[in-house]
Amino acid sequence: MTRYFATCARGLEPVLAAELGTLGASSIEPGRGGATFHGDAAMLYRACLWLRSAVRVLRPIHEFDVHTPDGLYDAVRSICWNDWMTPDQTLAVDCNVRDSALTHSQYAARRVKDAICDQFLERTGRRPSVDTEQPMIGLNLHVSKNHAILSLDSSWSSLHKRGYRPIQVVAPLNEALAAGLLLRAGWDKATPLVDPMCGSGTFCVEGAWIALNRPPGLTRKWFAFQGWPDFDRPLWNAIRDDARRAVLKELPATIAGSDLRQDAIDFAKTNAHAAGVGHLLRFERLELDAARPPSGVSGTLICNPPYGERIGEEEELIGLYARIGTTAKEHWRGWRLFVFTSNTMLAKKVGLKVVHKEPFFNGSLECFLWEFKV
Ligand SMILES: C[S@@+](CC[C@H](N)C(=O)[O-])C[C@H]1O[C@@H](n2cnc3c(N)ncnc32)[C@H](O)[C@@H]1O
Repeated sequence: MTRYFATCARGLEPVLAAELGTLGASSIEPGRGGATFHGDAAMLYRACLWLRSAVRVLRPIHEFDVHTPDGLYDAVRSICWNDWMTPDQTLAVDCNVRDSALTHSQYAARRVKDAICDQFLERTGRRPSVDTEQPMIGLNLHVSKNHAILSLDSSWSSLHKRGYRPIQVVAPLNEALAAGLLLRAGWDKATPLVDPMCGSGTFCVEGAWIALNRPPGLTRKWFAFQGWPDFDRPLWNAIRDDARRAVLKELPATIAGSDLRQDAIDFAKTNAHAAGVGHLLRFERLELDAARPPSGVSGTLICNPPYGERIGEEEELIGLYARIGTTAKEHWRGWRLFVFTSNTMLAKKVGLKVVHKEPFFNGSLECFLWEFKV
């Protein structure tokens, strides 16, 4: 059994822990910005393939206290790197430092790389070359309060990069956060899901993948664990093929998005097609108040309205947030309403009774998922 640490946006730790539990991980301990768990190679592959709310899955290989760049170099050089890689493999190091004597993360990353390369040069006369795009061995150095954890990063490129959203619109929601919020909201995938301010369609696409039982990593071309010396290709292929066979063809209930902007709707459609669900989702250019529930059972209405970060914008948005409340009361009775925003003053303008309010970090920005009673 190997110990891993899966990272996620702060606030999503309970969602991530629940996902890990469903996948069969053992000794799950949610912590700040992630969860520790134990598992074998199959568990690691399932985690990378299936976790919707995770950003990375790290495999810690060394922990130590560090105060200087030279101390870092010495600690990394003391590891027997032959156990983890060969000089013929490519390498990259990512580093984040917080509240520590070391302050320069790029310099710290370089010292780690130098220590590994110097050890290989001394022992074999050869050194690994650096590939920051698709390294066979991707390392993550996390330093907090002068305590360092050096880990193998099992995906290298972050797991939230699902591959369906090459086009960026203003303020799209991170895919892992959107999926995590849907899971946290307890959306029952057998009932409809509507986002009337869908932007690039992230809630709708992530919702469709959840409803279809489609793992977010299914079409990813490269996970860094595929370059590890202990990579078990037949096991990985079997896990991925099983998952592919279990993907449903039809959505159990309607998933739809609308937005005021035509370019947003165009982006949403393009992204949904890239995600393989374009034929299953409905996107329409509509003012918020013109959106109507699909016929049949009530479902979940979720949106991520503009937050009003620029001066003057907040004032204009008061009316928009108030309209969320009035249109919900008028047309969406019986539905569950969720609003994700960083702006508490604006959220209160929705004017409906608050059922629940919970903080989540969108990058470094503290946001809340508000559930209102309609
Ligand atoms: C923060 S963005 C949503 C981003 C989206 N969650 C995504 O992942 O791309 C807010 C969206 O609200 C839309 N919007 C603003 N006012 C609106 C209105 N009155 N009716 C419908 N949509 C509106 C904007 O066009 C924008 O796409």
